[in-house]
Amino acid sequence: MAIARDELSVADAAELLRGGALVAIPTETVYGLAADATNPDAVLKIFEAKSRPRFNPLIVHCSGPQMAETIVEFSPLAGELAQKFWPGPLTLVLPRRPGAALADLVTAGLLTVAVRVPSHPMANEVIERVGRPLAAPSANPSGRLSPTTAEAVREAFAGEVPVLDGGPCTEGLESTIVAVGEGAPVLLRPGVVSRQEIAAAAGRDVVDHAGGGIAAPGMLARHYAPATPLRLHAKEAGPGEALLAFGPDAPATDGPARNLSPAGDLGEAARNLFACLRALDAAGADAIAVMEIPEDGLGEAINDRLRRAAGPGDR
Ligand code: TXA
Ligand code: MG
Repeated sequence: MAIARDELSVADAAELLRGGALVAIPTETVYGLAADATNPDAVLKIFEAKSRPRFNPLIVHCSGPQMAETIVEFSPLAGELAQKFWPGPLTLVLPRRPGAALADLVTAGLLTVAVRVPSHPMANEVIERVGRPLAAPSANPSGRLSPTTAEAVREAFAGEVPVLDGGPCTEGLESTIVAVGEGAPVLLRPGVVSRQEIAAAAGRDVVDHAGGGIAAPGMLARHYAPATPLRLHAKEAGPGEALLAFGPDAPATDGPARNLSPAGDLGEAARNLFACLRALDAAGADAIAVMEIPEDGLGEAINDRLRRAAGPGDR
């Protein structure tokens, strides 16, 4: 099938996916590199394209709770959270249903599955047309910035992955990942839905993953990384530094600069985060000086990504 990459339709994307190919699809959070979650060969292609460690499981995207129920078991609390936040940027880690038709590589051998129902209409339409759940990590090579536009995906994979263009992602930051088991919900990755919103919906506190190790297997310290080093809690940009500012009181600088949200709005900052990092990364500065961002609400997820981008460890 000859397809001009920028003209891929939802029907084309679904046909490719049904045939076992990879397609990058838009979601409200970031673009996902999707494959038929029931097809082991297709899922393997995701790990190869991303150079993703095989122990790092994938999020399974469903068109609705009914599809999700074929894969995982919902406790009453999980059902309430799904009811409140789906479709939308909340991923629930739930016990895998025995006999669920999922390629084993999707879960990296775990007894749980991460599931979510995206709210981007094109994502939903593709899943419906495929008629099967789609495994999709963020559509970036492992350890690099998540793409929030079709163009960023094309750049990341040198045009080798077909992209369904659904415009810029409206949230711009990954989903919140919460494990729901017997006790309190456990926050595995801060994301678009804040800890406070989940606690309010659950009627109880959200706890952090105990043990301090890697909560979600993919949460390596260094992640979401630009090539340029980051300097956090900066008051201003030093010589040779680019500035990533936030809010109305950004310091003046002669160097390259972006403001995540001149108005100091955390939602706007989340939307702009990866695009701003990508732009400043390309500016050739020695480092990116990042201003302080408040830790409340969405700020927790933004700061999580910034800490990981600045953090130690392998890239
Ligand atoms: O917003 C998002 O969540 C995007 C869009 C495309 O949906 N996806 C995304 O996928 O961020 P990815 O692969 O970049 O991150 C998925 C995270 C990884 O840290 C992985 O380890 C974790 O989810 N994960 C997947 N299955 C899990 C499980 N059963 N238990 C714990 N963590 C799991
Ligand atoms: Mg990712």
